[in-house]
Amino acid sequence: MTPLLSAHGVTVRYGSLAALDGVDLRLELGQRHALIGPNGAGKTTLLDVLGGRTRPAAGRVRLAGRDVTRLGPAARARRGVNRIHQRPAGWPTLTVRENVLVAALPRAAPTRRWWPGGARRAAARTTGAMLERVGLAGLGGTLAGHLAHGQRRQLEIAMALAGRPRVLLLDEPAAGLSAVEVEWLVEFLRVLPRSVAVLLVEHRLDLVYALSDTVTVLRDGRTLATGTPAEIRAAEPVRQAYAEGVA
Ligand SMILES: Nc1ncnc2c1ncn2[C@@H]1O[C@H](COP(=O)(O)OP(=O)(O)OP(=O)(O)O)[C@@H](O)[C@H]1O
Ligand SMILES: [Mg+2]
Repeated sequence: MTPLLSAHGVTVRYGSLAALDGVDLRLELGQRHALIGPNGAGKTTLLDVLGGRTRPAAGRVRLAGRDVTRLGPAARARRGVNRIHQRPAGWPTLTVRENVLVAALPRAAPTRRWWPGGARRAAARTTGAMLERVGLAGLGGTLAGHLAHGQRRQLEIAMALAGRPRVLLLDEPAAGLSAVEVEWLVEFLRVLPRSVAVLLVEHRLDLVYALSDTVTVLRDGRTLATGTPAEIRAAEPVRQAYAEGVA
């Protein structure tokens, strides 16, 4: 079966360092796929390549079989690939509602440079629903820059969902969250409809095993193994590599 999003022989170099060295990865429709590995393994770099932020020196990225290697982040977002960063993004000087609205508009009228009233109303409805869904409905008028870290994370998730993604690329979404916020995040991802496939970079193995059906291990820019959580947990070389490298 054609994977939803796939990397084929992806190589990224920073000077003499190969951050990624011929990496293959398949994200299937509706999959919950975790990407783990020691610090510096290349996890964020691979999300950068899949999200369109980094153009690989070699290799291809395909979305539902179509080559999207040369498309940037905005073009990929319009095709349903949305990214959540290691540091929460969003415009600090816009309100929470405005941030989500900006994310919702291109999907409401994807082929236009101006937005007719119908598209604006649709985007406003989406915005309201997404703020409700992530628990920020009461903070729509607050400037994003005034939110606490966990709320910024919720906002970024609302922005990603407002684009009606087929793929969510999540880079350590639990980093810096309180225990209660992590619980919220886990539950949120657990009930996220399967129409959205998730590629999750996460250091916390308890979250990885709770949320994923497939795990890929990266080390030194190469894929060490891909398998079910049970297979990965049992694989001794993987355990060793991971135990050695995690900060
Ligand atoms: N812009 C850059 N310029 C130079 N080197 C970079 C750049 N971005 C990443 N690297 C290097 O590429 C390698 C892979 O980095 P990457 O951020 O992808 O790792 P990671 O697996 O996400 O690590 P972490 O778990 O710490 O987030 C590292 O050695 C890093 O120092
Ligand atoms: Mg990283």
